[in-house]
Amino acid sequence: MAFDRSVIIAPSILAADFAAFGAECEAVEGEGADWIHVDVMDGHFVPNITFGPAMCAAIRPHIKTVMDVHLMIAPVDPYIEAFAEAGADVITAHVEAGPHIHRTLQAIRGAGAKAGVALNPGTPASAIAPLLDIVDLVCVMTVNPGFGGQKFIHTCVEKTRDIRAIIGDRPVHIEIDGGVDPTTAPLVVAAGADVLVAGSAVFKGGSVADPAPYGANIRAIRESIHA
Ligand code: DX5
Ligand code: ZN
Repeated sequence: MAFDRSVIIAPSILAADFAAFGAECEAVEGEGADWIHVDVMDGHFVPNITFGPAMCAAIRPHIKTVMDVHLMIAPVDPYIEAFAEAGADVITAHVEAGPHIHRTLQAIRGAGAKAGVALNPGTPASAIAPLLDIVDLVCVMTVNPGFGGQKFIHTCVEKTRDIRAIIGDRPVHIEIDGGVDPTTAPLVVAAGADVLVAGSAVFKGGSVADPAPYGANIRAIRESIHA
């Protein structure tokens, strides 16, 4: 994972077929995905439940690129080791998930993964300022976390620009998560984002049996950025 700011498309398997995660990861990578984004939800930090470290370990052999694990859980710390052992390359925790985000990020790096910090739409950009030396990725949530297919919250574009300014020259990715599609992708990339998570906009219209729409959907996002 050498650092640069070329745009990375990270499909969220929250929008994939839950009965076929391994095959879905292979299908979407075959169609041009750069990373695979894995949304872990606990029914406590967010009002939805998805899957845990055992599922991550099961799909890891089906992922050639980067397994980007987004933890929407509280507490986080008791589970970091398990997600690292499951093969997570990036582990992202929410700044709102507990009182000790700094300790959490240290623990993620200590477990051998890249450390990400996610900000809910209601959390200001300034929350990342004390964390810049221990973070590899800032995830700007552009929907309230918990569900795929929600409407993009436009005020988060300005916040992305502020985060880009705070980060400066540091090798820290800015990831956008929620409502990314060919209409919103150019806005966030212009604001400084370089990792685009997209669930419904990538998986719509396709399947493991017919993955070509995944490729067309990924290309539509990439082309929107260069348009
Ligand atoms: C939301 C998740 C997102 C979600 C994005 O809680 O963190 O990763 O899957 O889905 P779309 O792209 O459909 O908004
Ligand atoms: Zn996510």
